Amino acid sequence: MTIIRTQGPHAELMEQTPSPTAPAPAVASAEPAHPRDLWQWSEERFGRRQFLLRAGWAFFWVFLGGWLLSNLRYLFPNVLYEPTLSFKAGRPEDYPVGISEKWKKSQRAWVVRTERGFYCFWARCTHLGCTPNWFDAEGRFKCPCHGSNFNKDGDVIAGPAPKPLWRCAIRLADDGQLLIDKARLENRPGPREQGDFFLPRQTA
Ligand code: FES
Repeated sequence: MTIIRTQGPHAELMEQTPSPTAPAPAVASAEPAHPRDLWQWSEERFGRRQFLLRAGWAFFWVFLGGWLLSNLRYLFPNVLYEPTLSFKAGRPEDYPVGISEKWKKSQRAWVVRTERGFYCFWARCTHLGCTPNWFDAEGRFKCPCHGSNFNKDGDVIAGPAPKPLWRCAIRLADDGQLLIDKARLENRPGPREQGDFFLPRQTA
């Protein structure tokens, strides 16, 4: 064994042979405490009563914190923030006569221009709500879910859909663009072709 003497005027390095009778130095065990010994360890570290007391208090504060948070949540209303249901669809002169699918993906709507004016369909099947597709060559909307078909006025011509397609309110905004409001819907023949649900061409 090597000993370094660091004090006194004669600091030196000394070699010392371990005595054969001297006890071997204790070597710290590198093995981690076995989980089985946790109870014993906690008992030695805190005492069993202290351990139970601390665990009880910890449980109490966690429970109290959760209870307070859940009560605080009641102070705020369950409001669902959804995007607005109206949108501007560009200028009337951007649309040729026919059915435009420009807004189908982003707004779920078809803008229709006829010789007389404009209207707009909500692209939602009146059966179970799937999005139909427009087939220009056949002049009809076909729903891929259960086969409902609608003509270009939105009336049911085949399939299980119980009602015509819904039309959205449409008007000209102050800046001259088409303004479509999907929150106001109509599908009855007559009312759907006038008022807020049809924009005559001379107005457009
Ligand atoms: S959802 Fe369109 S036919 Fe059923």
